[in-house]
Amino acid sequence: MDTTSPQELPKGAHPSFLNVLKAKERVKQNMANVKHKIGVYSAKGGVGKTTLSINIAYALSKMGYKVGLLDADIDCPNVTMFLGIDEKIDPHAPLKLPVKEGVKIASTAMLVDEIKRPIIWRGPLITKMLSDFFEHADWGALDYLVLDLSPGTSDAPLTIMQLLDLDGFVIVTTPQKIAGMNSIRSGLMAKRLGVHILGVVENMSAGEPSQSTLDVVAALGTEFLGCVKRDQRFDTSGDSGAVPVSAYEDIKMIFEDIVKKLIV
Ligand SMILES: Nc1ncnc2c1ncn2[C@@H]1O[C@H](COP(=O)(O)OP(=O)(O)OP(=O)(O)O)[C@@H](O)[C@H]1O
Ligand SMILES: [Mg+2]
Repeated sequence: MDTTSPQELPKGAHPSFLNVLKAKERVKQNMANVKHKIGVYSAKGGVGKTTLSINIAYALSKMGYKVGLLDADIDCPNVTMFLGIDEKIDPHAPLKLPVKEGVKIASTAMLVDEIKRPIIWRGPLITKMLSDFFEHADWGALDYLVLDLSPGTSDAPLTIMQLLDLDGFVIVTTPQKIAGMNSIRSGLMAKRLGVHILGVVENMSAGEPSQSTLDVVAALGTEFLGCVKRDQRFDTSGDSGAVPVSAYEDIKMIFEDIVKKLIV
């Protein structure tokens, strides 16, 4: 139900802008008991956003927090594949989210059979799909919601930046210069839209942050959160539906160190 009264909205604003403000208010009401929202982002594809989102979410859960994980990559919703979840939810009823190992999972893959019937989403549909999740899913009380964003600077990341009051973004990069340059671009765009940068993780790392990663940290004026080494076990876990931080003690410790820097 829309409870935002027009009197609360800025006078003379364009109708589309008023609609966004109203949607934002509805999202705020439905997510009133979600304390913190952390996006995992990079404009570059394939750097490990989904891998990091999953492991950050489960590391937080293992530390005793109530956690949700939203797959905000509409075109290629991979979270459910990585976690081996094939549940579907009824899009016409209140969105009741499944829980895997204590973490509440939301993905558009639960609404459509994406593999057999891929949908070519366009801007307004992407926005609608995401805002439906924010406005109607049963988030309940969560300490942290981790959002796995799609690459690029397209509608999904922009919708999230527009509709949610995020704590901020974790920027994912890899040791290569090109990844660093794209990470700086992603971070600066987010900052321009008023999103705080919580820090930078170097994924597929040799162990120590590369100069390129240190340059990203400096350019964004943020914190270095840690390195996640290139490790075959992330691939095999993804294929089997296992959660790396649950399966391997050493991986759990790496993510706990990262997550400790994010906890507020
Ligand atoms: N540290 C790592 N070591 C080895 N393989 C990794 C590591 N991190 C991620 N991968 C693998 O790299 C591939 C891409 O990872 P992932 O899907 O998490 O990236 P992404 O940034 O989410 O990609 P996209 O931009 O397509 O959403 C996956 O096969 C994943 O298993
Ligand atoms: Mg991904």
